[in-house]
Amino acid sequence: MCGIVGYVGGKQARDVVIDGLRRLEYRGYDSAGVALVSDGEIAFDKRAGKLANLEKAMEGSPLPASTTGIGHTRWATHGAPNDLNAHPHLGAKGRVALVHNGIIENFATLRDELERAGHDLVSETDTEVAAHLVEAELDRGADLTAAMQAVCRRLEGAFTLVAVDGEDPARVVAARRNSPLVVGIGEGENFLGSDVAAFIEHTREALELGQDQVVTITRSDVSVTDFDGNPAEGRRYHVDWDLSAAEKDGFDWFMRKEIFEQPRAVADALLGRHDETGALQLDEVRISDEELRDIDKIVIVGCGTAHYAGLVAKYAVEHWTRIPCEVELAHEFRYRDPILTRNTLVVAISQSGETADTLMAIRHARAQRSKVLAICNTNGSTIPRESDAVIYTHAGPEIGVASTKGFLTQLVACYLLGLYLAQVRGTKFGDEIAAVVEELQRMPGHVQQMLDEAEKVYELARGYADTRSVLFLGRHAGYPVALEGALKLKELAYIHAEGFAAGELKHGPIALIEEGLPVFCVVPPRGRDQLHDKMASAIQEIRARGARTIVLAEEGDQEVAPYADDTIPLPVVPTLLQPLVAVVPLQLFACELATVLGHDVDQPRNLAKSVTVE
Ligand code: F6R
Repeated sequence: MCGIVGYVGGKQARDVVIDGLRRLEYRGYDSAGVALVSDGEIAFDKRAGKLANLEKAMEGSPLPASTTGIGHTRWATHGAPNDLNAHPHLGAKGRVALVHNGIIENFATLRDELERAGHDLVSETDTEVAAHLVEAELDRGADLTAAMQAVCRRLEGAFTLVAVDGEDPARVVAARRNSPLVVGIGEGENFLGSDVAAFIEHTREALELGQDQVVTITRSDVSVTDFDGNPAEGRRYHVDWDLSAAEKDGFDWFMRKEIFEQPRAVADALLGRHDETGALQLDEVRISDEELRDIDKIVIVGCGTAHYAGLVAKYAVEHWTRIPCEVELAHEFRYRDPILTRNTLVVAISQSGETADTLMAIRHARAQRSKVLAICNTNGSTIPRESDAVIYTHAGPEIGVASTKGFLTQLVACYLLGLYLAQVRGTKFGDEIAAVVEELQRMPGHVQQMLDEAEKVYELARGYADTRSVLFLGRHAGYPVALEGALKLKELAYIHAEGFAAGELKHGPIALIEEGLPVFCVVPPRGRDQLHDKMASAIQEIRARGARTIVLAEEGDQEVAPYADDTIPLPVVPTLLQPLVAVVPLQLFACELATVLGHDVDQPRNLAKSVTVE
């Protein structure tokens, strides 16, 4: 989820682009770069780290005057966050400069093809491939617009691309598929941005591009086509947000924005991870198949929400691979002398990649010669750097302190890992794995369905402003969902909340039930191992004792409906994947209740985004 800016007009492009990047830095801050068209060629600079590093470098060695330019602030996906992998990327002769947000799924095939044709690619990114391809089209006589169209027809995945041609200072060309791009329409100048924050200091007239469209901006004109060059239209609108709302895409909190980004985040986490037959391909798992076949135990470590992702993973991984799987809080694991061998796979889950407790746990595991695999959202952070292998979650930066899209994408990465192990070890047939992959591909749509009903959840939340305590019940993969729902409510609304395994109720917690106590109940899908019916009985038991039940159950589930004071319908999905949808209303509930109570949702009291001390 990088930030992209493009400009052509009468002002100094360097200043407009840097200002735009500053506004977009919340989208990624691994590196930043600018390219300008000046005197028939490309001038550029790019640096690892925050935008300030680039600005400092440019103070010492300024880029030339120019009125046409592009810029990028990166959230790394392919390749480490260093100077070389920073955008822009140039074509073979340096005539084209190009920036990119997204993931080009077929980049490995295209890279092979370019290398066979004698191209020398210098970075580890998928982006550089697009820069070389665009320039190759220019060499064949196309103009920049036609070159972009031709290249986009060959790309698979999700991408926003913005390019300039050193020999054509009059235009900037961009394209989008499954990744955002907005045009800012000015007078005698036009802009491009990942979102309107990139240009609202200059213009509030915007044009949103549709799927698979290419746009060419000049000083005086904006023209849109599809990838085949046929004329197309974007959606024009006036932006009435202030700058802070613009950064949050019109949402009041980054957290709420991040909740609504989840369909995209889940789709990105799945991108490029399987071939057309549904067979998994996890290039980043650099542990040999032989070593993976020798694994006799998996230990998953993490803290807070990441630990709950691990609890969900246990159900899936054991079911698919038949490898015993333990899940442990990283801080408890580290200091209890755990039994680890060369054949233990330790999986460390961390959004930030910097959590000290998790880092200490993996250092200990590696010292015992166990293999460590990180599931992480932050490319180049310490935990993946110190691990043998990594699966990046590709959620983009998570700014709200409470993890939301981080959690959903951790779940996806865990499912992918489980399926991959099953594939390597032969514990599932190819068609069984492909069937789960197909179900996973449907999940972004299901998550969207949950978000479409957000208003009903908000209304429910507003009714609980005076509540002092809330319980959450779940079974099987719904149990970690209950724990996560309770954590969200504690940390955002500062309300006492507990999650329980529903089967545990009668062993103690049922004593807490009293008249009017709200209890969220996550009901497993119907028809699996009596889980559903047992949960239905638990709901009846607590309701008989006065609880106010808020029941999350499959749409059309008539068996639990009579015992629900409120119902939140869930789409029909497999039991193991249900956490991906069931947690969404719980996130929305906590976010809304905290808002109603007047709390700072993005920065709850006493908490930090990245806990770098033990
Ligand atoms: C809760 C939350 C925390 C983190 C935990 C681990 O909303 O965000 O519980 O999940 O501190 O952080 P990472 O995943 O960065 O290791």
